[in-house]
Amino acid sequence: MDYKQLKNDFQTPFYIYDFDKIKERFLNLKDAFKARKSQIFYAVKANSNLSLLQMFAHLDSGFDCVSIGEVKRALKAGAKPYKIIFSGVGKTKEELKLALKYDILYINLESEAEMMLLENVAKELALKARISIRVNPNVDAKTHPYISTGLNENKFGVEIDLARKMYLYAKNSSFLDPVGVHFHIGSQLLDLTPIHEAAKIVAQLTRELKALQIDLKFFDIGGGLGVVYEKQECEPNLYDYAQGILAQLKGLDLTIGMEPGRYLVAQSGEFVCCVLYEKYNKTKRFVVVDGAMNDLIRPSLYEAYHEIVLPYNQGEESKCDIVGGICESGDFFAKARFLPKTQSGDIMIVKNAGAYGFSMSSNYNTRNKVCELALEDGKVRLIRQRESFEDQIALEEKFLRN
Ligand code: LLP
Repeated sequence: MDYKQLKNDFQTPFYIYDFDKIKERFLNLKDAFKARKSQIFYAVKANSNLSLLQMFAHLDSGFDCVSIGEVKRALKAGAKPYKIIFSGVGKTKEELKLALKYDILYINLESEAEMMLLENVAKELALKARISIRVNPNVDAKTHPYISTGLNENKFGVEIDLARKMYLYAKNSSFLDPVGVHFHIGSQLLDLTPIHEAAKIVAQLTRELKALQIDLKFFDIGGGLGVVYEKQECEPNLYDYAQGILAQLKGLDLTIGMEPGRYLVAQSGEFVCCVLYEKYNKTKRFVVVDGAMNDLIRPSLYEAYHEIVLPYNQGEESKCDIVGGICESGDFFAKARFLPKTQSGDIMIVKNAGAYGFSMSSNYNTRNKVCELALEDGKVRLIRQRESFEDQIALEEKFLRN
């Protein structure tokens, strides 16, 4: 990739995503489950750029959304309503109402209270709401605590006994139609055992429900498949992932739903920035760049590791912290990394930044959100314009007093 040309054309910082690589990952995942009916619902939160969603829609992907905003994004990008599912612990009445009006595939319920509210909303609209219930199987995903979701101590889903009770209630309601079951135990899973264990627990529940004449159609295994960020890690094998799930579903006629985010997009994205300064505090070396934690918060929030490359620099390497210009000590992309000497303007690439990069970015310190580029069929195109100061203040300016 000619990063110098890209810098010339678009300035830094920016994100760039390799759409061809994303397509390949999508097709490989789909293929691993070919023995059964399956549907990928791309987890929009990982990277919600409209052009990316449009590309997924063309691949016949479904969409896992966690706000009505994400549902609207998916629809805008060309998704069919019957390929959209809606999850999240805190859906509002207004969001539930709109989801029903859009006639999406199903709504994933995360509590009994939410079910009662949805039933009321469906009644008001004189509709029958298709639902799934997110079960919390109490399985330890063995990942970072902030992205672990399948234990009873986490806020997500409902425990299995309550789920059973909710399905029975839904079955007898004129306004609820139970069509699926769902679990998601955490993100960045590198060990497949916990997810297979969760599948076993939830498959057992599905069998019990079948015996009670509650015949579900969707078995949604959530997302969470991990990727390699650091060299010593090992990506789970797709075949093993699929086989372990399929093995739990013997005798059940279900469509397997998956909600991958990171697996599809993380490694296809790069955050490209430039060196501003090098500085030493006593003996400690800092490389200050034009990107910052507001653009990519993963290192600050989870102490996440991202490989960092200087594609045009050579020479002896020494230890440094790579930091942004934000007024926080937590504003860093990496600590104690070995890099060659740099100069102002040198291009730096933060790798594997396609998931939870731009989608978690903010305007902290009144910094403009960066632009996003796509690489497809050997060509680079702009898929989100760089924000301007005027964009940022547009919703405040009109309230200024004369
Ligand atoms: N389904 C549900 C219900 C989820 O909560 C999530 C992610 C996914 C699917 C997609 O998970 P994935 O396949 O991408 O692992 N910001 C964090 C990750 C938070 C994940 C939240 N839920 C990070 O940067 O690592």
